[in-house]
Parts: sequence; structure tokens; C-alpha cells
Amino acid sequence: MGWHDEFPWRWRFRPAGLARKVCVMSLSELSTLTASLGFTERNDPFKLFAEWMEDAKKSEPNDPDAMSVATVDEDGLPNVRMILLKDFSERGFVFYTNFESQKGHEILATGKAALCFHWKTLRRQVRVRGLVETVSDAEADAYYNSRARDSRIGAWASQQSRPLKARFELETAVAMAAARYALGEVPRPPYWSGFRVRPLSIEFWHDRPFRLHDRVVFRRETPDGEFSKARLYP
Ligand SMILES: Cc1cc2nc3c(=O)[nH]c(=O)nc-3n(C[C@H](O)[C@H](O)[C@H](O)COP(=O)(O)O)c2cc1C
Repeated sequence: MGWHDEFPWRWRFRPAGLARKVCVMSLSELSTLTASLGFTERNDPFKLFAEWMEDAKKSEPNDPDAMSVATVDEDGLPNVRMILLKDFSERGFVFYTNFESQKGHEILATGKAALCFHWKTLRRQVRVRGLVETVSDAEADAYYNSRARDSRIGAWASQQSRPLKARFELETAVAMAAARYALGEVPRPPYWSGFRVRPLSIEFWHDRPFRLHDRVVFRRETPDGEFSKARLYP
């Protein structure tokens, strides 16, 4: 049995090996847990996601906005990798990348992706499946121009997902891009932009004792439709 089977209680061991159960929960952890327990009654997945993201920003040691992004290749073989969520609204979940990367090709070919957030300290998971659209040039420019200059140079230098002979080759590409854009602004490369996943389903999961977790899923037929809600067995 894992210690989280009895969450929020944790086992502490005395030197003699005898177990003693103590509550080591802070007040803020307790209020987050209490809020979690009522989440299955909620009817607005976007508001619930926004609240869980705010909780994650307070609790996760780093990258609360990190999510896995799943795609499939032309043979239907899945690919998954971590990406940072950069924007979120009722329109969808936005991330930025190189459109000539593996994921770029797969998303542009299928128009579909799935996302998964796991906030370890909160013991929560959110899964999203949806159709993908490209963000507008204005949105992509706004985000690109907010990035550090060296990251903008890096976007020119990296042929993301393609073979690299040696680190030196990348460093040479960085030096050449830095020289090319030594004066003035670094423009956004034409192959670098953002994808917006427009959800067809959003599932919320929260850990409960003895693996009897709570799950609730919101589903709709089209990205503009109304969600219907269902609870799922753990
Ligand atoms: C925490 C974390 C965040 C990442 N964020 C991004 C991101 O926002 N955009 C991106 O293109 N790659 C990001 N990466 C790198 C990707 O995981 C991946 O290596 C890269 O995008 C190439 O993926 P692909 O070959 O499947 O296209 C991140 C990696 C980690 C571990």
C-alpha cells in the first residue's frame, strides 16, 4: 500500500519500527483538499481548470503549466512530450512550438491532440482531447516578442526534431542567427507559432484513499457545442 492510499495522513516510523499515524497537513493544504472534494458538483470545466491551475501555481515547485502533449504519426503510433501551456481561455489551450518539428507535422496532418496535466503535490490530473487550430499571427507575435532575446535567436537556430551532428553545429547556428539579427528586433520565424487545442473533452481527476479516486468528464461533439458532464469509475 502506497502512503498516499491514506492521504491526507502520512506514516512516520519510530526507530523501533513501529508506525505512528500523524496529520502533517497545513491549513492551506486542507482548504485545497476540501475544495477538491466538491469538484464533481461543478458545471463549468473552464472555471474549474482555471482554479486548479491557480492552486498548482501555489503548490508546485516548478513548471505548474507543464503538460504532456500527445499526437499520432501517419501510422497511428502515438508520440508524447512535455510542453508549457502559455495561454488558456474558453477558446482553448495554447502552446508554442516549431511547426516543422515532429509534433508540428503530426498536428498539422491530423488536426488533433491530447493534453495531460499532473500536479503531483495536489494529487490532481486533468486530461484534454481536442481539435487543434493555429493561433493568429498577432497572438504568435505578441508571445514571441515577450520572450528573451536569446530564446528568439534560438528559435532561428534550432531545426527542432531534426538530426544534429554535434553540439557545435547548433552553437554555430546560434552564432550565425545572433550575427544576422545583431541590430534591431529578432523577427518571428515563419515556422514558429502557436497551436490552440479546442477541447472536445476535459476530465478532472483527484486522488482519494484506497484508489477510489474521483473523476468527472465534460464532453461535447464539437468545439462550439455545449458540454455534458459524467462521472467515471476510478
Ligand atoms: C518541462 C518542459 C517544457 C517544454 N516546453 C516546450 C514548449 O513550450 N515548446 C516546445 O516546442 N518544446 C518544449 N519542450 C521540449 C519538448 O518536450 C520536445 O522535446 C520538443 O518540442 C520536440 O518535440 P517533437 O520532436 O515531438 O516535436 C519542453 C520540454 C519540457 C521537459
